[in-house]
Amino acid sequence: MASEEFARSAPIGVFDSGLGGLSVLQHIRHALPHEALLYVADSGFAPYGDKTSAEILERSIVVTDFLLNKKIKVLVVACNTATAAAIKHLRLRYPDLIIVGMEPGLKPASLLSKTKKVGVLATLSTLQSEKYQHLSMQLSADTGVEFIPQACVGLVDQIEKAEANAEQTRLLLKKYLNPLLAAKVDTLVLGCTHYPFVAKLIQELTSTHISKGDPITLIDTGKAIASQIQRLLAERDLKTSNSDIPCINAYTNGNPDKLKHACTQWINIPENKLSVSTFRT
Ligand code: DGL
Repeated sequence: MASEEFARSAPIGVFDSGLGGLSVLQHIRHALPHEALLYVADSGFAPYGDKTSAEILERSIVVTDFLLNKKIKVLVVACNTATAAAIKHLRLRYPDLIIVGMEPGLKPASLLSKTKKVGVLATLSTLQSEKYQHLSMQLSADTGVEFIPQACVGLVDQIEKAEANAEQTRLLLKKYLNPLLAAKVDTLVLGCTHYPFVAKLIQELTSTHISKGDPITLIDTGKAIASQIQRLLAERDLKTSNSDIPCINAYTNGNPDKLKHACTQWINIPENKLSVSTFRT
């Protein structure tokens, strides 16, 4: 195979602390159905949100090396927490690798909010990061929008346990959403890739607070990230010429049955298009 052809047929590597990055993977698969996709759920070390930046960077390097061994052409850090803590260092460490990261969708939220009050749901680590602080201050100054941060401690654990609809998840979300609703936010940024999996519950819990006017708008940047990857591949002539729809190879250092369940039930990957394996690092 010619080297250009080899580079084009290489897989896209996607990782997260756990199952959350699947919310991004589903958009990538939709936008680029012929690309080979590798997914790593670092569930053995989830959640990242209560870890130090040094610990998150260490895990990000371990997972990136694992994916580089599988000859990926693009790395997608499908985790806001890892992006905030590690992407700058990853770009320095792997200068030849195309790296795409997540960022809470403050910009689209600022354009959509009529009350000029936007709630930002994310992990504590993301909200405390320099990257987030800088972005929110800058955008607030430019647009006059007030961004109200809300760390959702414990929510990633609930989603990892596949208990998105459990009573405990509902109570946790109510506790986090009530102050934002009282502050009259009309837009909520899902600043963690796990949270789209509780989007329906968030819609339900917020709808009871709205007596008139539009429902709360939820911002998830997964689709925009998929478009960005599509653009980057096209610009670099790296789109695959495969015409089949390849199997997704997913790896976890947690429970493979949970990953399989999430892939097939949460994002509807057919079982015959999925291979789940464990990795130990
Ligand atoms: N999905 C990760 C994110 O976007 C979750 C972080 C965590 O593991 O706490 O932030």
